[in-house]
Amino acid sequence: MFGLFKKKEQKKEVTFNYSSIAVDMHSHVLPGIDDGAQNPQESVELIKKMMALGIKKVIATPHIMADYYKNNAETIGNALKLLKEELKKENIDIPVEAAAEHYFDETFEERINNQTLMTIGGNYVLFELSFISKPPNLKEMIQKMLDLKYRPILAHPERYSYMDIKQLRSLREMGCLLQINTISLLGYYGREAKKTAESLIDSDLVDFISSDMHHLRHAEALENALATSYVEKLVNHGYPLKNIMLK
Ligand SMILES: [Fe+2]
Repeated sequence: MFGLFKKKEQKKEVTFNYSSIAVDMHSHVLPGIDDGAQNPQESVELIKKMMALGIKKVIATPHIMADYYKNNAETIGNALKLLKEELKKENIDIPVEAAAEHYFDETFEERINNQTLMTIGGNYVLFELSFISKPPNLKEMIQKMLDLKYRPILAHPERYSYMDIKQLRSLREMGCLLQINTISLLGYYGREAKKTAESLIDSDLVDFISSDMHHLRHAEALENALATSYVEKLVNHGYPLKNIMLK
């Protein structure tokens, strides 16, 4: 009883939400095509949570991975259509677009060369790396995307423990934008990712924040992250995030 009371007492009251960020540009809310929402009902639940937290537009970014999720424009387009039908059925009015989260695997270079990358408005390409080791040709691929007028965005740089702030800064100096997962600031992925995310913010290296929402535990963490001082700084104190440009 005392424990419960204490917990309640310690919980900070939050009077703001993500409405100033407006656009969530990294999520797995398309039904049935990756490890995110498994059916349209689950998708709608996640989107309702985002809307309750102030999000005004959702850009869904299902995984494209040669080994696990062989998505392409067709599978993603079909899943988006399904989701939109479900939203309409439930009278939920929010713009939803789809791109992808490209995994940096042996097929990535081919997708760049063929210019078949799924882009977010304005030619942005969201891509992610292995959590185990740094691809030796990372800078080369970033340069290749830039040369083809793509605007690469590295997803959750704080989660690659093999890269420090100095290395991430050098990628950004090349023109690779950085998107941190908002829930990293809550410690959802551990202390190290939290510290790196905070250092990236302190060093003014963060371009986008997003939910990377796969399921309701992420939605809960996104809500709880509002109580952290770093999210407050991003949301309320004019940090120059680019999410709003995707509206
Ligand atoms: Fe993701």
